[in-house]
Amino acid sequence: MRWDHSTLRGFPRAGQSPLFLRLIRPEDRQHLDPSRLSQASQIHRFMSPKPRLTGRELRYLTEVDEQDHLALVAFERVDGVDLGLGVARFIRVSPETAELAVTIADDIQGRGLGSLLFRELISAAGERGVRTMEAWVMAENTPALRMVRRALPHAAETADGALRYFTARLG
Ligand SMILES: CC(C)(COP(=O)(O)OP(=O)(O)OC[C@H]1O[C@@H](n2cnc3c(N)ncnc32)[C@H](O)[C@@H]1OP(=O)(O)O)[C@@H](O)C(=O)NCCC(=O)NCCS
Repeated sequence: MRWDHSTLRGFPRAGQSPLFLRLIRPEDRQHLDPSRLSQASQIHRFMSPKPRLTGRELRYLTEVDEQDHLALVAFERVDGVDLGLGVARFIRVSPETAELAVTIADDIQGRGLGSLLFRELISAAGERGVRTMEAWVMAENTPALRMVRRALPHAAETADGALRYFTARLG
């Protein structure tokens, strides 16, 4: 099933409300507040502490064209209110190549959501003609390294100072 602006996918969770995934919308800017992330997560995502995003950055991150820039959000619905849990994004950097990044709320990290979002993002990118994936990950960021290595097992991996650079051709 193709990811487009009307796609909503639900994933049951044992003993918890289901998880939903859909494409990001402008009103999701409320879910992107980096001050809700630990400083370590801010650094792992943005490569430096990033406690807030400017209005311009929020617009850039939420008002996407869904072709060259696409983001998937994960949320749970509690009493009719959507609570953001994570976001995965690709930005096309050349006609067939896109850079990927994922952020999961600290209190739900380590439970498979990052890997789920990353896999679905790769699928959405492939649907849009992306053939090569790139990702930059801090060498100390074991969960992200494992997530990328598992989702892109044929990726080439290069050390670049404190970073690892992954590039993978999609099959
Ligand atoms: C990196 C991140 C996206 C991973 O998402 P997640 O939901 O926490 O990770 P998952 O539960 O899907 O686990 C991914 C892998 O890391 C492993 N892992 C998870 N937490 C771990 C921990 N604390 N220590 C070691 N390994 C860990 C998992 O076992 C899994 O590996 P496996 O598939 O080989 O078993 C998430 O931790 C995050 O948002 N971190 C802050 C921002 C960031 O680092 N973004 C990455 C930039 S590309």
